[in-house]
Amino acid sequence: MLTYSDKVILAPMVRIGTLPFRLLCLDYGADIVYSEEIIDFKILHSKRIKNEVLGTIDYVAPDGTIIFRTCSAEKDKVVFQMGTCDAKRALKVAKIIEDDVAGIDVNMGCPKEFSIKGGMGAALLEQPEKVREILTTLVNGIKKPVTCKIRILPNLEETLNLVKIIESTGVKALAVHGRIRTQRSSQPCNYDVISEISKSISIPVIANGGSLDVKSFDEIERFRKNTCCSSVMLARAAEWNPSVFRRQGLLSTQNEIKDYLTYALMFDHNFPGTKYCICQLMHKSLDTDDGQKLLASKTFDELCEIFGMKSQLNQVVEKRRRKLGEIEEEIEKSIGYAEKRRKTDGFICKNIKFNKHDFPKTITPKMILFEHTRKSNLPPPKYTTETNSDRLFKSVLTVDGRKYGTLTWEKSKQATEQAAAMVYLKHHGLSDGKKIK
Ligand SMILES: Cc1cc2nc3c(=O)[nH]c(=O)nc-3n(C[C@H](O)[C@H](O)[C@H](O)COP(=O)(O)O)c2cc1C
Repeated sequence: MLTYSDKVILAPMVRIGTLPFRLLCLDYGADIVYSEEIIDFKILHSKRIKNEVLGTIDYVAPDGTIIFRTCSAEKDKVVFQMGTCDAKRALKVAKIIEDDVAGIDVNMGCPKEFSIKGGMGAALLEQPEKVREILTTLVNGIKKPVTCKIRILPNLEETLNLVKIIESTGVKALAVHGRIRTQRSSQPCNYDVISEISKSISIPVIANGGSLDVKSFDEIERFRKNTCCSSVMLARAAEWNPSVFRRQGLLSTQNEIKDYLTYALMFDHNFPGTKYCICQLMHKSLDTDDGQKLLASKTFDELCEIFGMKSQLNQVVEKRRRKLGEIEEEIEKSIGYAEKRRKTDGFICKNIKFNKHDFPKTITPKMILFEHTRKSNLPPPKYTTETNSDRLFKSVLTVDGRKYGTLTWEKSKQATEQAAAMVYLKHHGLSDGKKIK
């Protein structure tokens, strides 16, 4: 069971705290890693899938977006941070996810408008009874440890009252960001209030908000002492320099980027998220040649070229293709739907998704297919597209009297038509025009 005393922790960070970055921080020495905040509804609307290609557990939205990806390497150290304003809904989500993570945290400090308007994040700080209800329901309803992360209130007495309520719910620890809701992160963090909180309750208090004073592992220890806390949680210091967790000292930015990119490729992290994270690592050198190339990059190919990682990219892509090929066949065999349709009306159905970043701007599977039908004197491809109640699209392609399509729904009509064209091309052993081979 995860415990929270004497720990150095990666703080929850939207867009940063995803699987590749969490694994990187664990490698460098973080004891616990928090996920980015994920709103409860998103998990309720997603499907849990065992990803055999990557060896991960994925929570996937109806449009195919990965909401949360995790793997066995972090299972005992990852805390899932939830955004919620409703105890019953929070419990439902916690029950769905608890076996895949080490702990559940509730975000009670986010000052962003979407959180406050939704009654989540820092909006909860003014509703102690709601705080009590959410945390008690979670503590009593799941087996894994529950924690929460707060900001301080403008008044010390009210802050201390609130943390006593939180302690009484049975949470295993409390993370405190030493700023009030309206303070920006460039303003000083209030170490004294964190100290007062730590002295007034007996569960471990995790000090947060000190990144501007923490540039190395030694300074983490100083932050811990200055706040009289049991544990320390870092956000921006880790975002800029994840090797801040290394007891042996900082690594160069170049090294950090290579290590991060290795995990991003290995776990098929999305391109915009990967680029964003590397931009944070390079935040001080974005005006260099490499920085400018990074800002201009639009594909993994370009990204890997900048950091001398093209061969790693090719290896990963090749390995994944092979594995995918094997698995696709298995899926197709095991999905009765595909088989049945193939038998009844000659429908060719494959588990294929279209990702526009895989293709050069000027070439698409639909164009290749059109050209193929023209050269082969076949009638032009015909696409029939349906939509469902989630406003997702699925297309059936007809070529020469046979039907082709995918198993999953897509976000746009264009994407499902492209995917259907890819099914045709794959079935007939033709290239679909993807950039990376
Ligand atoms: C990019 C970014 C994303 C963040 N996302 C979250 C989040 O998802 N949940 C949360 O509780 N706090 C979030 N925070 C706040 C941090 O966890 C932390 O409380 C704050 O940055 C102060 O800590 P620091 O001084 O170590 O940066 C985020 C901060 C940053 C910089």
